[in-house]
Amino acid sequence: MTQQASLFARWAEALDGLKGQGRFRSLKPPRGLDFTSNDYLGYGNGRLLASGGRESPGESQSLNNRGVAPPRSPGTSGLASRLLRGHHPIWDEVEAALAAWHNAEAVLVMNSGFTANEGLISTVVEPGDWVATDELNHACIAEGLRICRPRKFAFRHNDLAHLEEGLKKEAAQRPAGREMFVITESLFSMDGDRSPLAAIVELAERYGAHVIVDEAHSTGCFGPGGSGIVDELGLRSRVLATVHTGGKALGVSGAYVCGSTLLRDYLVNKCRHLIFTTALPPAIGPWWLDMLPKVTADDAGRGALRTNAARFHAMLAERGVPTIGDSYIVPVVLGDDPRSVRVATGLQERGYDIRAIRPPSVPQGTARLRISIHADHSPELLDQLADHVAEAIRG
Ligand SMILES: Cc1ncc(COP(=O)(O)O)c(C=O)c1O
Repeated sequence: MTQQASLFARWAEALDGLKGQGRFRSLKPPRGLDFTSNDYLGYGNGRLLASGGRESPGESQSLNNRGVAPPRSPGTSGLASRLLRGHHPIWDEVEAALAAWHNAEAVLVMNSGFTANEGLISTVVEPGDWVATDELNHACIAEGLRICRPRKFAFRHNDLAHLEEGLKKEAAQRPAGREMFVITESLFSMDGDRSPLAAIVELAERYGAHVIVDEAHSTGCFGPGGSGIVDELGLRSRVLATVHTGGKALGVSGAYVCGSTLLRDYLVNKCRHLIFTTALPPAIGPWWLDMLPKVTADDAGRGALRTNAARFHAMLAERGVPTIGDSYIVPVVLGDDPRSVRVATGLQERGYDIRAIRPPSVPQGTARLRISIHADHSPELLDQLADHVAEAIRG
């Protein structure tokens, strides 16, 4: 992709600079007796927790174990940054499996989707760069942009004409060496609608911008083997990076950025949200490795989810309750904050865990119920809920 050449050159130059200074970092698994981690009392390797306490003050790693990684099961703590002793080898396995899932060059596991978005954006976007961001993008995207202070263009939600207006104007006046980015979600968290990704990527290419896609809500549920909408649309090689969280459909803790090997190297060396925080507990690694083949094979789950979502939108429509989008995130916009709370409370009293979503999570005047449909909700339950939602709104 031609527009990536200048950005990749920027990263390669920065990394070469670090190599020249002897400051280039890569992630290395723990080796040798631990004089690096922050496991000051020795609880982190599980031994003290499992045995119920310390037997003697001298109980410690043995010098006989020199050169061997200490026992880390159950690995309840990351113990240190991934750049230090927090890079357990399980993460190499997890990242390789995830990269294969996306048929992508590289993956970097991060602690959460929030820090992955905030860290990725604030690392790759520099002040003076220009970023077009969908006005409904998640708070962590806004926070990433707040840190790096680019020139920002918030385009109207999913509005291609507005996006193109911004791209065209910026491309015509772009200062040399400054990069352009477009950031969007693939499935929006509060509106449950999809972005017109293929058209966004085309526009971005036409005007020389890089695309970053937050796939938090689509990962697991769309695409070949569930790897997301970017892969479903065959756009992997045409986007700069995607961000995925484990904390939603994948049912595990943590998150990751998927992109090129150069991007991964750049983040490992520059991303403060990776460098200056304790790694995820290695105990979580096997959850990822266990989950991945199951989710990949779960076309039945994805089918049931889609059927349930379509069914529930139709059930509400039959009862005169308008919704947005057609996905498993079903927003029922009520507008008024206290009314939304009243309706949600009524449904909670009937036994449903349904929450009112109010500003600033959604724009002023668009308070709503956000109903999250799952693959294992029965048709009878959905039918009954649709009745109760309609009643609660009328009441
Ligand atoms: C669109 C979107 N991106 C990112 C995140 C953050 O992900 P995580 O919960 O893993 O921090 C969320 C979670 O609320 C989200 O809805």
